[in-house]
Parts: sequence; structure tokens; C-alpha cells
Amino acid sequence: MWKAARNTVRLTCSACRSVAHASCQARVSAPRVISSATPCPTGCRALSSSSTSSTAVTSTSSDGRFLTVAWQAGGESRYPFIYLRDNCTCSECFHELSSMRTVEIMADGIDADISPSGVESTATGVRITWPNGHVSDFTNAWLREHTLSTQPKDHGLGRFQRPAAQPWLASTFSPPVFGLDAMMSNENVQYDILDNLYKSGIVVVKGCGTEPMPNEVYEKLGMLQDTAFGLFWLVEARADPNNLAYSPKAFPLHTDLPYLKNTPGTLLLHCLRQAPTGGHTFLTDGFAVAAKLREENPLWYDLFSRVPVTWHQLGYDPTSDRHYHYEFAQPILNVDRHGELYKVCFSVAARGSFLSIKEDDVHDFYHGYLRWMQLCKSPEHRYEVRLEPGDMLIINDQRIAHGRDAISDTREKGRCLRGCYLSWDDVDSRFRHLYYKLKKA
Ligand SMILES: [Fe+2]
Ligand SMILES: [Zn+2]
Repeated sequence: MWKAARNTVRLTCSACRSVAHASCQARVSAPRVISSATPCPTGCRALSSSSTSSTAVTSTSSDGRFLTVAWQAGGESRYPFIYLRDNCTCSECFHELSSMRTVEIMADGIDADISPSGVESTATGVRITWPNGHVSDFTNAWLREHTLSTQPKDHGLGRFQRPAAQPWLASTFSPPVFGLDAMMSNENVQYDILDNLYKSGIVVVKGCGTEPMPNEVYEKLGMLQDTAFGLFWLVEARADPNNLAYSPKAFPLHTDLPYLKNTPGTLLLHCLRQAPTGGHTFLTDGFAVAAKLREENPLWYDLFSRVPVTWHQLGYDPTSDRHYHYEFAQPILNVDRHGELYKVCFSVAARGSFLSIKEDDVHDFYHGYLRWMQLCKSPEHRYEVRLEPGDMLIINDQRIAHGRDAISDTREKGRCLRGCYLSWDDVDSRFRHLYYKLKKA
């Protein structure tokens, strides 16, 4: 028999407004799931859902601390009342425009074990009346989305899932190509560019001209991320290079700025000028190499995902007139709390000499590292592209390692790439905005 554990909670029929209703009372007294095939003899449909929606509530019950909702499509969800009170969606407790909470449960003296004074089904969901008379309405859709008992990964982002990465091999890969004009004028194209960036980690935009582009071009995809090197920097051979990138030497495969805690998410390289010969860019999918490494030797993968490596760079940038001394320790393979790889950090030049590892594990680490390098450079994984003036290469800097061969361009105005970064948070934000605006859900 249904009863409240702490306080008696009345389950009220929204149509007949009474708990004394014989048929409804019989149903709320029944243990948990109530058949919707036996409608109330008075015609009341509040507890016998007529909806075929998978989000329809077919019954509610409570033990005083939890609201239990049974779904017509099967299964049920339980919601602690404190959770519902904390997340009331009324205009007094929630600012819908910014999607931000305004109720402060501590300041409002709300108890963690709060029980409502009334619960009733409504045409769209559930209405809860609290001891102080405050009323909270939750729609079936809200309840479904906020189910705790089947909490998915990244719960709370359930409405929006970043498109999954699709690791690739060089032999079968060709980067998705878009045009700048379309990107500037069409939000669907902006969405597609970001969608492809999530999936393949690389996108090429053509038709960008050979002059520096204004910030607004980049802001179609996210927000520029400033660093000691400035918002924009030119990758070209300089007479007195303070950075390997500015010398004509080959630059081995790497991800940019692993020495930043806020590692840039997106690297954009706009080709203003290209060398007559050479000037190839090499790209390797770090996610694909990591999968291969894991398959070959799980111990190496484990070490790479567990052992922090110190990354650093220090110096002075004459263009931005900034001194810098960057340093940060993070593994080569960064996995989230679900064990899923989300960031690859890898730079021959910026890898420091400190290694937080036991002496006896060092040989294994280096065996793995040498194999990692071998795989990154192998024809199976290393994709080669030669940017033409007017091309812009966009890559996921937390996944795709890039490098170049030596530049034999001795002209005064030789090969030149104009680079910048967008932070992942802002790319995510832009994509999420487009996702909802363009109704991609
Ligand atoms: Fe780089
Ligand atoms: Zn409220």
C-alpha cells in the first residue's frame, strides 16, 4: 500500500481534484506501476494516460522523499524531492532566458529531506505543492530528460551530444572542404564545418584570399583565444627565429601548446603564401594512433594515459612584445572519468625532461613512446597536404598532430601561414547555439 515515509503526501487526481475518488484511490494505493488500460469510471484521465508519447507519465507515487514516475514506454524514474525543489522551473526560481537558477535553497531554508504537501498529475506532467505553499510544475519532457536512475554519460548535456570522433587512416582519408563565401553567409555551412571538425578533426576552407581576414570570419566558428604569441601569428621563416616554427627547418609532428592547462581546441592556419616547392603539412590522427597503440600494447596505453609529462616553453615574442614562461604537466593521452580519450598532447620540442614515473617503468614508457612516434610517422597514419594560397586548414589541436617538412624557400616574402586559435569551450558554445537555432535536434 502506498504511504509516505516521513510525511503523508496526497496524490491528487487533477481531474476530479480528490484523493477520495474510489477508482483513483485504488490506483494510487496499488504498488507502483498502474495499468493504463483501466480508466477511471468517472472519465478522469489524469492517471490513465491517453498519450502514446514515450515521455508520458502513467503513474506517480511517493514514499515521502522520492517522486516515482512510471513511463508509458516502460521503466520508471525516481526523483528525490530536494532535487525537484532545487530545480523548480517556475519564473520565481528559474530565469528561463539565461537558463539559470535563481532559487538559493540554503538561503531559503529548504531542508535536504523536504517532502511536499501535495503531488498531482497534470495534463502535461506533475504539479508539486511544497509545505510553504510554493508550487512547482514539471513537464513530462523535463522529467524524462532529468532522469537520474538511467543517468547517461555527460548527464545534463543529454539534449546535446557533441558528434563523436571518427578516427581515420591516411590511406582512406580526405578532409572535408568548404568555401569561405558559403561559410560567411550560411549558418548551416558553419554548423557543417564544426560537425565535420568534431568527426574528422580536420576541415579545409577554400577561397579565403591571400590577405589577413578580419576577426569576424573566425567568430563564425568560435572565439579567438589569445596567447603570448598574440591573437594571430605568422608562421614564416625569420632571420632570427625565437621559435622552431619560425625557422626554415622541418618541424616534427606535434600538437600546439600542450604546456597550457587551457590547451587550444582549434588551430586555424590560413595560407597567405606558399613555397614554390615543398611546404607540405603532415597530419596524424592521434585518436587513431592511440587506438592502435592500445590494441598493440595496453600497458603502454595505460602509461601514456596515467603518467604526467611536463611540457614547457619560454622566451620572448617580438611580434606581440610578450615574455612567456609556460609550463604544465599532463599525460600524452588524457582520458575522462569514463576512461574515454578526449585529448592528445604530443610535442617533440616542448616535452620537458621531468617524468613523474617510477624508475622501473621508464623503459616501458620509452618503448611505448618510440612505437607511438613510429606509428605517427607511418604511411598508415600520416596524411600529407599542401596548402595553396587562400586555403585555411582547421584542425582539432587536441587530437590531430601536425608538422611540416623543411622549407627551402629563400625569397624575402616566402611561405607564410597566418595562425590563430579558438578555444574548445567557445567552439562548443557556437555549435550548441547553431544546433538549437537550426533545429538539428
Ligand atoms: Fe604547430
Ligand atoms: Zn519555483
